[in-house]
Amino acid sequence: MNLKQIKWQSFESQASLDQAAMEKVIALAESSIKTRGQFHIVLAGGSTPKNVYTLLKNIKTDWHKWQIYFGDERCLDSDHQDRNSTMAFEAWLNHIDIPVQNIHTIPAELGPVEGAHVYNQTLSQVGDFDLVLLGLGEDAHTASLFPGHSWDNNLDALAVFDAPKPPPLRISMSPARLSRSKSVLFLVSGKEKQTAINQWKAGDLIPASTVTCNNGVDVFCFNVS
Ligand code: 6PG
Repeated sequence: MNLKQIKWQSFESQASLDQAAMEKVIALAESSIKTRGQFHIVLAGGSTPKNVYTLLKNIKTDWHKWQIYFGDERCLDSDHQDRNSTMAFEAWLNHIDIPVQNIHTIPAELGPVEGAHVYNQTLSQVGDFDLVLLGLGEDAHTASLFPGHSWDNNLDALAVFDAPKPPPLRISMSPARLSRSKSVLFLVSGKEKQTAINQWKAGDLIPASTVTCNNGVDVFCFNVS
């Protein structure tokens, strides 16, 4: 992906980044629901998106037309506090009127191999996403795609065994599947991400740069430039 297809946007505060991210989600949801009757969104894990999810729980929308997926998941019990799905449920999904069948959590409690197999079956029934949300790790990982790892881009969901960010066992969408979206938005906050951003801007091949989008990738930054 050439660098000019990355749209960098810096914010003066975390709150203004969160607000802009919420507004972008709302705009894409309204457009997708209007044109195709549904909005397929992939959620990011980690901590950065939490405030955006909290803001989203108060918006006015037809939640029945939202289909929620997860870009990656940690292989922990389904209700474990450290699960990416737990964060999304507690901040947002437990507080809205969305049909449970519209929330497609990754069955990572089955373990990386079986869980990835099941999620591949789920995703085989799903077309392109409308929006993929992603975070960025200090080592330039995204989702559970880590530096030094290789990925089978013929698969939608991948088993991860030796993630350097605990827990080691995870499931991740592949770069190819994360790239099958009308929009991709990274949320990046914190000076500890600066080296990863520098690598990205230098055109280095990092996990984050393997996710592309025909409409360009948006990167919202706070406290990093
Ligand atoms: C995870 C996430 C991971 C995360 C980045 C950034 O399971 O941790 O999928 O990719 O998005 O590590 O995490 P923070 O937002 O907490 O900095």
